[in-house]
Amino acid sequence: MGAVVVGQLARDLVMVMERLPDVHASGAVRQRLEQLGGKGANQAVGLSQLGVATALVAVAGDDPVGDALLARAALDGIDVTHVVRRPGTATGLIVEALEDGGRWRYLEHLPQGVLLTEADVRAAEDVLRAAGAVLVQLQQPLDAVRAAVELSGGLTVLDGAVTDRSLLHGADVLRADAHEAELLLGVPAREKDVLAAAPALLDAGLRLLAFALADGGDLFVWRDGHERAPWRDSHEPVPWRDGHELVPHAAGEAVDTTGGGDALTAALTAALLDGATPREAAREAVAAAGRVVTHAGGRPGLTPRRRSA
Ligand SMILES: Nc1ncnc2c1ncn2[C@@H]1O[C@H](COP(=O)(O)OP(=O)(O)O)[C@@H](O)[C@H]1O
Ligand SMILES: [Mg+2]
Repeated sequence: MGAVVVGQLARDLVMVMERLPDVHASGAVRQRLEQLGGKGANQAVGLSQLGVATALVAVAGDDPVGDALLARAALDGIDVTHVVRRPGTATGLIVEALEDGGRWRYLEHLPQGVLLTEADVRAAEDVLRAAGAVLVQLQQPLDAVRAAVELSGGLTVLDGAVTDRSLLHGADVLRADAHEAELLLGVPAREKDVLAAAPALLDAGLRLLAFALADGGDLFVWRDGHERAPWRDSHEPVPWRDGHELVPHAAGEAVDTTGGGDALTAALTAALLDGATPREAAREAVAAAGRVVTHAGGRPGLTPRRRSA
């Protein structure tokens, strides 16, 4: 059991300032964070904080930055034995320039070599097949994504923009931000449009959709027919029934939405692995996102879920 995250690892450099300087001008940075980042690592850190044994399948360069990030990930309790060290490649770097008001810009140096290949994913076959849940980031090359979905032995969770609908056949959960949802739906992700599109997506093989809406909040839609969720250890069947839940954003001011979706995906997965109903998992997921968006940068600070009695 436990989870495997298949995705991105990068050095995150977060620079917080009142306002970005104009061209040919300089500006003072008020706060600087240098940390383990990338969507895959952020999800893995979140899962580990939530008490789920987690392995990461990602690519680092063979440079000192890669050494430092993997050491940090290991301190976070993540199994990094399946992180590929690519010779001659610089570890990915994401510079986040965050202006007051939550206006972020990402400068990404993610050379071809830091993307996962199909062979990288297949090298992790054993851990993927044994996983209770496999989280797959759709920003990775399609061959690598397909291999992860094929080899997943547990709950398969996709995060991002679906460009190939055949992926839905092998997946259980799809999480998309509002932009990614719009790419899939062809119209802005509003509640009625997501609900209208949901039956076809669920027919394609999914069990649970988690879409951020264009006008705020996250909409979860799920389908029954899985009295006994195969990814769970428990002998107690949890009937899901058909349903949906629109969960408003957590109260409080969002300083930086970076990592909100990654914390949401991690918490949703942790709750489902633990036998939560989709409705409970949805609420916990949005609460986890709400905690991350109150600080700069995408690194989560989550605590293990409290099981209902
Ligand atoms: N103003 C807000 N208050 C609380 N939560 C928010 C707010 N804005 C966004 N969120 C949460 O953060 C998530 C951001 O998701 P996403 O854009 O996918 O982030 P990332 O890809 O950087 O992890 C949303 O789904 C929502 O749950
Ligand atoms: Mg996202």
